[in-house]
Amino acid sequence: MHDPRAQGIASTIRVVPNFPKPGIMFQDITTLLLNPRVFKDTIDLFVERYTGKGISIVAGVEARGFIFGPPIALAIGAKFIPLRKPNKLPVHAYTRSGEVISEEYVLEYGADCLEMHVGAVQPGERALVVDDLVATGGTLCAAIALLERAGVEVVECACVIELPELKGRERLKGKPLYILVESH
Ligand code: PRP
Repeated sequence: MHDPRAQGIASTIRVVPNFPKPGIMFQDITTLLLNPRVFKDTIDLFVERYTGKGISIVAGVEARGFIFGPPIALAIGAKFIPLRKPNKLPVHAYTRSGEVISEEYVLEYGADCLEMHVGAVQPGERALVVDDLVATGGTLCAAIALLERAGVEVVECACVIELPELKGRERLKGKPLYILVESH
């Protein structure tokens, strides 16, 4: 990423040592959101890349994928699908539209699970997965698995920040990863 806007994005991300646990260098994007020009640059860079690519789904990962995903979806004319933490999505047992599928995954600091409404997508649709950050890649791997189980083609994963030393991009089932900023 050599776009000059990436430098502004990097400079607004605050690194918080030892949060939420000792040894974790937390990449805090809340400070990026305080700068409307830089927040707009962030969304614009993704929109420029994904406009006209036949993407009908932007799937955002809870929680910070819910910040970056919806404006991208609106701008490229796609629907937004939240991939949620367990037991947050309502289950309608009588229709496929309310069926929830789950994928468990291991995190840098713990284990977690993502869930998706199967009926939110149609087999054959093309999806972009959005989150703020890729560390070990476990979260994106679960997101890809959910969409693929529903017959969706995952075109790419897009994150603001990558922690390259954790090699998360190697866990993405061969899907490309696009990032704006590397953090060490
Ligand atoms: C963070 C981040 C990504 C994930 C990346 O979320 O926002 O979703 O970790 O880690 P990975 O590449 O090692 O899977 P977190 O799990 O802290 O959840 P939260 O957004 O609900 O706080």
